Amino acid sequence: MALPHNTSIMSETKRKILVTSALPYANGPIHLGHMVEHIQTDIWARFQRLRGHDCIAVCADDAHGTPIMLKAREQDITPEELIGRMSDSHQADFNDFLINYDNYHSTHSEENRHYSELIYRRLNEAGHISRRSIKQAYDPEAGMFLPDRFIKGDCPRCGTTDQYGDSCENCGATYSATELKNPVSAVSGATPVTKESEHYFFKLGDFEDMLHQWTRGDHTQPEISNKLNEWFEAGLQDWDISRDAPYFGFEIPDAPGKYFYVWLDAPIGYMASFQNYCDKHNINFDDYWTQDSAAELHHFIGKDIAYFHTLFWPAMLQGAGFRTPTAVYCHGFLTVDGQKMSKSRGTFIMARTYLDHLNPEYLRYYYAAKLGPGVDDIDLNLEDFMARVNSDLVGKVVNIASRCAGFINKKHGGKLSGQLSEQALYDNIAAAGESIAALYQQREYSHAMREIMAQADRANQYIDEHKPWVIAKEAGREQDVQDICSVGLNLFKVLITYLKPVLPKLAENAETFLDIEPLTWQSIHSPLTSHTINKFKPLMTRVEQEAIDAMIEDSKENLAATGAKSTGPLADDPISAEINYDDFAKLDLRVVQIVKAQHVEGADKLLRLTLDLGGETRNVFAGIKAAYAPEDLEGRLTVMVANLAPRKMRFGLSEGMVLAAGPGGKDIFILNPDEGAKPGMRVK
Ligand code: MSP
Ligand code: ZN
Repeated sequence: MALPHNTSIMSETKRKILVTSALPYANGPIHLGHMVEHIQTDIWARFQRLRGHDCIAVCADDAHGTPIMLKAREQDITPEELIGRMSDSHQADFNDFLINYDNYHSTHSEENRHYSELIYRRLNEAGHISRRSIKQAYDPEAGMFLPDRFIKGDCPRCGTTDQYGDSCENCGATYSATELKNPVSAVSGATPVTKESEHYFFKLGDFEDMLHQWTRGDHTQPEISNKLNEWFEAGLQDWDISRDAPYFGFEIPDAPGKYFYVWLDAPIGYMASFQNYCDKHNINFDDYWTQDSAAELHHFIGKDIAYFHTLFWPAMLQGAGFRTPTAVYCHGFLTVDGQKMSKSRGTFIMARTYLDHLNPEYLRYYYAAKLGPGVDDIDLNLEDFMARVNSDLVGKVVNIASRCAGFINKKHGGKLSGQLSEQALYDNIAAAGESIAALYQQREYSHAMREIMAQADRANQYIDEHKPWVIAKEAGREQDVQDICSVGLNLFKVLITYLKPVLPKLAENAETFLDIEPLTWQSIHSPLTSHTINKFKPLMTRVEQEAIDAMIEDSKENLAATGAKSTGPLADDPISAEINYDDFAKLDLRVVQIVKAQHVEGADKLLRLTLDLGGETRNVFAGIKAAYAPEDLEGRLTVMVANLAPRKMRFGLSEGMVLAAGPGGKDIFILNPDEGAKPGMRVK
């Protein structure tokens, strides 16, 4: 890749670096899949700063588009309100995962409007925008054009019903929404009509030569360069950058009723967030964005959005007279226990659910231990996660400090020896720093973690061989004990420096314990002698199986709380296929009486309901706590699914499910049959 390969700190001049992560959509919470990217970026940015470079990391919420507009409508709030709430929750998640963005902004901002209009105007003036009418599906009831995801119908190739407007889940065919048989609008249920309107296009083909050259310039990973060649061969098509009202976004200058497509202004959001940062910190935007800029621009993204970042984005920048990216790094997708994240297995884990149960640094370390420079998917294997964190971080790294600190604190007033008795070992472990730095620079994190752990093994081996706990019992060997433990703690300090990009909080606590200034890569070469340390407090505890189990249960609980399976075009899980009568007949729906409703200790969303089915009693957990107080429910009739397989939850067995309607949270309503109904009656 086009990066300074020479990473030796001595010869390196101070680099000016701007780093970004892809902007998360403001229509849903952050999950552990997103965290792969933010952790990868954050480690890289922290590493650069630790090496003394000037590194600014920015991100923002991607706030525009039809899904966000519709989601706000569904919740009966304005899009501004929705994106405001989402931004707060995204930022809280990132903060608590110790992700250190210098600025977190929004694509729905004045800075972004400014740069979107500017780039569009420049492209237009240079002749890179064309206009033509296209035919599209239109929902006459909702009065809007329908994105493919909001149209459903029968596959034109194999006839499978209930398929999205872009591809068939059954036969894999891809097609345009207008080809679907029996289409319906997922917004209103109306049959879409075909309607013509004028659209604006970015002429990507104008940039073919430039993109060819850019691709060869080592700005992308080899896998992506290959992909780019395929795309070149397929031919660069004009890109439709406009959408008709109603749309949540920016209106195109001099084009009333036409809006920029969300993906036009999304990457420009990188500039907007940076501009917002510049204004607050008196930094010159142009130093980073002009074509002759000496600064570096690095984008971290998922492989699914490579096309936007390696074709459209460099072309837009070039066409509008800005610099192009130094590098675009794609990562793979997260799987949990070898499978796609799944709501029903409890492995669709939200960042917040993780944080409710586990230390963020465990995951930062685990992802680091799995991440390489390529686009391979990465697996969060929960058993391996626990074993790895416990053996590496607790068993190897923190253990060095806990083995040595006691003797120094108790026997030597916290004071380290006046000189290092094992200079050679220290120098050796310190010398590994340059190769570890090179690995971080190349995003070879898993390799770097292995190397750091190998050095930790050597430090532990030294302590094992010198056995301070034995020598401490021998008369007249106080000096030896102090020397051994001083070496141990100095090695610990070096190892913590190596891990600091990954474990910033642990590093901070270690700095407090050692009573030193913040560690930098430079300070590796300054061992502590005749220095007094503070009392040792445990720096990290073990991952407990119970905490992992609780996290999985809570992830299932989120599911119970939002309804068994969320459906509709805004849901994360695909819409369930149509069922036939036999499927329906399998459901045993019964009228039941809620005889008792209780709070469940430790559950945020659940109530425990005791249900009377006309003689038989069932225990059911329902995610309706935000909507109902237990006393409001007792005595009421409702409807349950009585033949659902019982499910073991953290709080006990749930023997069925009660039916409720609504989007969830406070707005969930349990069904109430008329008074004529009696507990036990079948619902037909
Ligand atoms: N809003 C666009 C990005 C605009 S960038 C100018 C978007 N948003 S997203 O929320 O869907 O995804 C944000 C990032 O998270 C993307 O880089 C995407 O690849 C990444 N991931 C989303 N789910 C993921 C996994 N399950 N695993 C790993 N990364 C994933 O795309
Ligand atoms: Zn099909």
